Formats: sequence, structure tokens, C-alpha cells
Amino acid sequence: MRFFIDTANVDDIRKANDMGVICGVTTNPSLIAKEGRVFEEVIAEIASIVDGPISGEVKATTTDAEGMIKEGREIAKIHPNMVVKIPMTAEGLKAVKVLSAEGVKTNVTLIFTANQALLAARAGATYVSPFLGRLDDISVRGVDLISEISEIFDVAGIETEIIAASVRNPIHITDCALAGADIATVPYKVIEQMTHHPLTDAGIKKFQEDYIAVFGE
Ligand code: E4P
Repeated sequence: MRFFIDTANVDDIRKANDMGVICGVTTNPSLIAKEGRVFEEVIAEIASIVDGPISGEVKATTTDAEGMIKEGREIAKIHPNMVVKIPMTAEGLKAVKVLSAEGVKTNVTLIFTANQALLAARAGATYVSPFLGRLDDISVRGVDLISEISEIFDVAGIETEIIAASVRNPIHITDCALAGADIATVPYKVIEQMTHHPLTDAGIKKFQEDYIAVFGE
């Protein structure tokens, strides 16, 4: 399983990129709004930092296929690595069909059932984004959805990649990897949490103390 970072914050993107662990970025309208920056500018800056797929979503207020196709073409022009993120609706699927036929990569977002993922894949989506954490929030096991989609895509020989989204903690990461997600898109905070273990931290402290006791600082 590969990692994308799920943010529009360029400082966090730089930190994760410097660690060498991410190979792509996902954003959404809420994450862009949080930064308070012009969409095209922040996306272009992100694309200058990470050499990999960058998902930029169509405007939250654009709900018709024609509008999504028009915006998707503009997003695709920002950088060759752009992936157009499109919400899972019937209009969204129409947009995916047209954009994918034009060679534009798409990421169908807000996936909450295996059927939605299957439809998105058949419409030509490059990626589907099932939302793990938001299902867990309503007492539905999000990881089960990842397993179902993974099994269905394997059985059907579907090449659309599964991006586990709405990841909230390190346990989600292990669960997604075991369930067959191709990619997990992860907030910086969770990447940072994943680096730690109390025994690692205690081990480093002990090595430092033992070294200093004999050789000094
Ligand atoms: C992914 O593509 C979404 O942007 C994101 O993972 C949503 O996460 P949230 O449910 O924590 O907002």
C-alpha cells in the first residue's frame, strides 16, 4: 500500500515529502477552504513539491455533468500530474466517462458502498475514494467496505485503484493495508503518529544515556 497525504497545507506536504513516504496528494473543498488560498495557486504550489498524482476537486457548488467536465478540463491543465476529483453522483459518473475518454485521470470521492465503487470504476475512474472514518463515525466498519471493494475489483479484474480516505488514526492504516487498499491518503498528524512507538523512544533515550556515560556529549 502506498501513501498520499490528505491536505492542502504546503508546510505539511513539504514535511511528509521530505520524509520520502508520500507519492501523491489529495485535497477536497473543505481542505482548500481551510487554507483560505486561491485554488489554482495552492494546487500549482503542491504540484511543484510532490512529483505524483495531485487530486483537485471540482467546485462543491458544481453539481451538473457539463459544469464538472468544464472545470475538470481546467483542473487538468494546471499540471500534468493533476487528477480531477468528482463526487459520486449520477452526474459525476457522466463527467468521469467524458473526462476519462479524454485521458484525464479521475478520483471518484465520497464512496460509501461497494456498488458506488463498482459504478465509478465502470465509468472509467482512475481511483475510487471510500471514506473509512466517516463510516466508523456512524458505527459502520469502514474497513469492511475497503475489503469488499478490493475483493470485487480483484474478481472482476478492475484496474481502478482504491484510495482509503477519511483516515483518522494509525490503526486505520494497518487495517486498510490488510484489506487490500492500493493507497491510503493520510493527514500529516497520522503520518507523524505512525513514526512513534514508546519502546523506540525509550530505546533512543537509553542509547544516548549509555553513550554519553562513557564518551560524553
Ligand atoms: C479524501 O479524499 C478526503 O479528502 C478526506 O480523506 C476526508 O476525510 P475526513 O472524513 O476526515 O474529512
